[in-house]
Amino acid sequence: MNQRTVSELFDLSGKTALITGGTGYLGTAFSQALAEVGASVVISSRDAARAQEAADKLPIVGEARHHGVSLDQTDAKSIRNGFQQAIAIAGAVDIVINNGLAAPSGGDLTSVTFEDFAQHQINNAGYFELARHLRDHVVSRSASGNVTNIGSMYGQVASYPDAYKDICAASPVAYHALKGGTIHMTRHLAAYWADDNVRVNCLSPGPFPNPDGPPTEMVERLSERLPMKRMGLPWELKGAIVFLSSDASSYVTGQNLTVDGGWTAW
Ligand SMILES: NC(=O)c1ccc[n+]([C@@H]2O[C@H](COP(=O)([O-])OP(=O)(O)OC[C@H]3O[C@@H](n4cnc5c(N)ncnc54)[C@H](OP(=O)(O)O)[C@@H]3O)[C@@H](O)[C@H]2O)c1
Repeated sequence: MNQRTVSELFDLSGKTALITGGTGYLGTAFSQALAEVGASVVISSRDAARAQEAADKLPIVGEARHHGVSLDQTDAKSIRNGFQQAIAIAGAVDIVINNGLAAPSGGDLTSVTFEDFAQHQINNAGYFELARHLRDHVVSRSASGNVTNIGSMYGQVASYPDAYKDICAASPVAYHALKGGTIHMTRHLAAYWADDNVRVNCLSPGPFPNPDGPPTEMVERLSERLPMKRMGLPWELKGAIVFLSSDASSYVTGQNLTVDGGWTAW
């Protein structure tokens, strides 16, 4: 054990990772990364067929097999069923990536309704519920496991009001509340579950706008604010997700790893 090589540490052969929202922009890169280092990946989506379609596109390394399950993280019963289904088809689950985002219609701090604000926060309830299923499953097998919650730079810093002015609504206040909570919930779970051999960390992306997303003018404004002067590309998160999901981070828990081109550095 004292002499493990770097390639052994990052190898996920024989492990199964369940990722929510694995059909999405960043979820696709996370899923590919885990598959590329040998994991079997169970992708969840609200739609089982969409999940399976995404799973079928993943590279297969060694004995790995990829699957799709349906899971709606706003519904406790659906989370339980999705997790049980993942165990039924994969045999066991070792890694959970809480990545999905159910975004209600939103609105910025001038326009968000009470109901939309409250509905946004349910994502953290979903992250917690799925993490707890993983913890109970790991303990029942006397095994070890880990959870990575996907946070955001906007769980750590406010957005610049003038970056959005006259282009679109400000980034949603409910999203800032949500992601700040994700980062702190991570610390709490890590402290309580270390004894159970379950590590819990957070990976916080900076700006990785989907090409179909915000207007070019806003992307240009955001780029000016960044030390690296450009947006991130999904593959630039691959190393971080593999690090947190593998034994390369075996002594890391309760941390928030920010991948943001330096956004939060100044
Ligand atoms: N892109 C960025 O710049 C950025 C920056 C910081 C943080 N993040 C975080 O990164 C994560 C992924 O973002 P993204 O940009 O890849 O977003 P995205 O492309 O919109 O993907 C979001 C995913 O969430 C899933 N989803 C929606 N409602 C759900 C529900 N009720 N239950 C379970 N899953 C649900 C969707 O899958 P189905 O429709 O198939 O169900 C979709 O694949 C999010 O947590 C986001 O907050 C993104």
